[in-house]
Amino acid sequence: MEVNCLKEKLQKFNQDHLLQFWDEISDQEKSALFKDILELDLPEVTSYFSKAMNFLNANTEILDSKIQPIPGDVFESLCTSTPAKLDQYELRGLKEISEGRVAVLLMAGGQGTRLGVNYPKGMYDVGLPSHSTLFHLQALRIRRLQELAEEKFKKWGQIAWYIMTSEATHDTTLTYFEKNDYFGLKKENLKAFKQEMLPCFTFDGKIILDEKNRISKAPDGNGGLYRALKSRGILEDMLTRGINSVHVFSVDNILVKVADPVFIGFCLSRSADCAVKVVPKRSPTEAVGVVCQVEGKYRVVEYSEITLKTAELRNKDGELTFNAGNICNHYFTLDFLFSIGNAHESDLDLHVAKKKVPYINEYGKKIIPTSPNGIKVEKFVFDVFKFAKNFAAWETIRECEFSALKNSDIAGFDCPSTVRKDLLSLQKKWLLDAGALSVNGDVEISPLLSYAGENLKEMANGKNLQGPVVLASHL
Ligand code: UTP
Repeated sequence: MEVNCLKEKLQKFNQDHLLQFWDEISDQEKSALFKDILELDLPEVTSYFSKAMNFLNANTEILDSKIQPIPGDVFESLCTSTPAKLDQYELRGLKEISEGRVAVLLMAGGQGTRLGVNYPKGMYDVGLPSHSTLFHLQALRIRRLQELAEEKFKKWGQIAWYIMTSEATHDTTLTYFEKNDYFGLKKENLKAFKQEMLPCFTFDGKIILDEKNRISKAPDGNGGLYRALKSRGILEDMLTRGINSVHVFSVDNILVKVADPVFIGFCLSRSADCAVKVVPKRSPTEAVGVVCQVEGKYRVVEYSEITLKTAELRNKDGELTFNAGNICNHYFTLDFLFSIGNAHESDLDLHVAKKKVPYINEYGKKIIPTSPNGIKVEKFVFDVFKFAKNFAAWETIRECEFSALKNSDIAGFDCPSTVRKDLLSLQKKWLLDAGALSVNGDVEISPLLSYAGENLKEMANGKNLQGPVVLASHL
């Protein structure tokens, strides 16, 4: 196709401004831009923009009259479960692992703009004594869990680790794992796959140029997972490996219990096809989505979609009525993921995220905006709840399982220093519970020694522990 035809095609979709610098750029740049534009499915991406805007405009209503908490019969809390029940769930989960039926699916395709580093967030060193990164911690938790399952059931089951990346994170992520020998995991059990990228738009629907010869693109949201799982052959790969249970979570939670056997066992015991892990909200005004029902359908409702009065509602026991804080932590059966990929993916909602998108202005100058100027169209991982045939929700304890790395230290919250502190505080508690007399300074526990506080007696009982130190094996 020559450039005039391309121009005509673009005109049809009101996007011919993409060629505005054509006469100024070199032949090499021309071919890059040409390729960039040809790769765009213009009818599809422009319809995404319209759909997302329609969805935004249609969903401005306040949901107070339609929202209901998660019904008690699909909800269970770690705090109120008996120890016997927790043991039963854990055993069930470990058995599933020992049979090789568990996969973990890490969502690591985001651009991490708030943290502001130019490499994948999973590679961030939060300053622990071990200098472990988020990827490293997760890898070691997987290794330890495989061992625990083997100890219990005398059978070795591999946990398959799938990592969703994007154009922004793929190559660097792969190189990082290669360089670190997959942190002791088998290379064949780790598979990275890319989610799709979508162009960024101005508020009136024009695709943004990032350079004179390059379209600005962003990953299609963590709900891009479902499309990528199918198009990249991951569902088939899981099927071949005999996977049944898939634990999905975000890369930024330093406390994540990867392939948590208790959560998996809970889901299996209820034959759930789609489940969510939640934590109690900190306060009515905490800006976190809550899992609930709207007109009988499960979904996540954002803080901005209900009034303060509804957010402040409390039950007789004093607990917030809408208390189930979403932490991006899910369980799906493989059958459920197939059903989404085959029947529902194109029905997923398209959300508008208003962002600061660097652009080339009409004079050809690169502008780094200081306030949102553009739109990224995103799908959300939790938008599949409404397709569940058997939904379940598991409430856990925030201090034990959730602390997210979102911002740089300047923000003072959800940042390197808070996630480091949260991990070390949790591990200090494990050590004191295991009989340590005192724990001072940064005492870190390698996940290879303990996945969730087990196995620490010998190391801790009767000891005064002084950091900085990494407890990695029995002395
Ligand atoms: P966030 O929404 O917090 O985005 O992602 P982010 O990219 O990490 O950070 P910001 O907003 O740019 O600062 C929650 C989880 O979803 C993943 C992220 O990698 C993180 O694990 N995600 C997000 C994707 O995998 N793909 C996306 O397109 C967006």
